[in-house]
Amino acid sequence: MTANELRTMYVNFFKERGHKEIASASLLPENDPTVLFTTAGMHPLVPYLLGEKHPSGKRLTDIQKCVRTEDIDEVGDDTHCTFFEMLGNWSLGDYFKQESISMSFDFLTNYLHIPLERLAVTVFAGDELVPADVEAEGIWKSFGLKSDQIFRYGRDNNWWGPAGQTGPCGSDTEIFYDMGKPKCNPNCGPACQCGKYVEIWNNVFMQFNKEADGSFTALKQKNVDTGMGLERVLTIFNGKTNVYDTELFIPIMQTLEEIVEKEEKDIPERDKRIICEHTRTITFILGDPMKISPSNTEQGYVLRRLIRRIIRLFKKAGINANYLCKLSRVIIEQYEPVYPELGENSEFILEQLQKEYDLFSKTLDEGLKKANRYLDDIRQGGVLNGELAFKLYDTYGFPIEFTSELALEKGYQVDMDGFWKKFEEHRNKSRQGAAGKFTGGLADNNEQTARLHTATHLLNGALRKVLGDEVSQRGSNITSERLRFDFSFGRKVTKEELEKVEAIVNEAIGKKVDVILEEMTPKKAYEEGAVGVFSGKYGEIVKVYTIPGYSKEICGGPHAKNTGELVSFKIIKEQASSAGVRRIKAVIDVQ
Ligand code: SER
Repeated sequence: MTANELRTMYVNFFKERGHKEIASASLLPENDPTVLFTTAGMHPLVPYLLGEKHPSGKRLTDIQKCVRTEDIDEVGDDTHCTFFEMLGNWSLGDYFKQESISMSFDFLTNYLHIPLERLAVTVFAGDELVPADVEAEGIWKSFGLKSDQIFRYGRDNNWWGPAGQTGPCGSDTEIFYDMGKPKCNPNCGPACQCGKYVEIWNNVFMQFNKEADGSFTALKQKNVDTGMGLERVLTIFNGKTNVYDTELFIPIMQTLEEIVEKEEKDIPERDKRIICEHTRTITFILGDPMKISPSNTEQGYVLRRLIRRIIRLFKKAGINANYLCKLSRVIIEQYEPVYPELGENSEFILEQLQKEYDLFSKTLDEGLKKANRYLDDIRQGGVLNGELAFKLYDTYGFPIEFTSELALEKGYQVDMDGFWKKFEEHRNKSRQGAAGKFTGGLADNNEQTARLHTATHLLNGALRKVLGDEVSQRGSNITSERLRFDFSFGRKVTKEELEKVEAIVNEAIGKKVDVILEEMTPKKAYEEGAVGVFSGKYGEIVKVYTIPGYSKEICGGPHAKNTGELVSFKIIKEQASSAGVRRIKAVIDVQ
């Protein structure tokens, strides 16, 4: 089965069962201050899981591109990837456990033809908040799964979400494929890391919202959120043992082999895998319509860290890392038919890779020399002190994870606390960007964030009025205290221009304008002058929020009902974000 056959089979299966297909959202989540990347298909659906009406209905399906960095140290093994495609289906207050498990079982056994005895599932064992999921267990049994194929686990394993501090969550039932190896010990089960069990699908029964104070409240509706890993299913279906032997990685792995042969060098298999896997991830991040560049904060930092890791692995093998662009081209060509944004942004992708290569190769050699010297000096104790690790970061551009890896190769560790202490001392750069937010979390979805979201639309509209159509959104991030808006613009915005922008937004607030929500096709929305990034290709219906006279945007919401709720608006900062992109921070409710 090809990847495309699997994509089509999955989506069609759910469409035939009443689901509407929706488009993959951007890899960079909008309006979500606590996640750097879209890590699951449910991220763009949070407002709907919380009870907002989705324009496509209560049953949805899609293929979402995802980036997860928490498993980065696992990359190079058979199954873990930092980028992957997640096949998903959702019930927004519609079907629940019985139908969800039944559809999964049908798809796995009748469409993917997985033999019953190769399946293993986990169910929630219960705790003080939620009882054991005997219902899910009973459903699996009714389909013929034996007791030794069903495992009960607690909150550590069988509870999904929220992705961060707050947001929708619930107990889940995870579905594993048994690779057929013997158990590594009598207690071996899906929670064991020995490789016998590979997780392929997760059905989450989302019934709760975790609040900022740590309490759980019942959601307005009972939802199902599922996610299946395309790479893993493709591997298993085609009888392979690792993702690199599937069509998704064969072309790039082959190109790398050719490079290695031509250069008459050698690269360990694990390093080859890491180079290819990371190249795919950075190509997708750079290819996203949000146009993120390598930097020292947030998503840009992750990008930088991945690129620099590839460069070093090439360097370690004595091969010019400039080949990175060649590898990235393989990914662009291969994925472009499914993700056209890679083709549309190919120039940007390759230019950014070249720039980062040029920048890093200037300091890499000297940095490596220094790093080796530091590491050779620490034979006793085996720990590189934080100050030296910070020096490598600050002077030679070595991401801390990169230094850790270098140290580990020699059997040493880095004093991370010492590094962060130094880092804090020098922080005019955001620490959050360099370290936090990797595991992510979901935004507070309260009335205040909805108001700030409306302020963001007004700001976007006002900027376009004052600065012209060159302004287009590059990112948005809202906490309950402030909004942050990134937009394309080639120079600093003057004080006078900012005052004009502020005045327009305050005028809209003063006029107490109703915020109008409509549903329409993206084509109609654009014809009516709406702005907003929409990468869908399926002619689906989108939500459009209009603030007459001020703004019209394609957007999932939620928003304030009337601009008067914002009370007042004030810009607190305007600065450069990256080349050609400016950043504004602003607050509302100022008296
Ligand atoms: N949100 C769940 C997960 O990421 C199901 O997609 O596993």
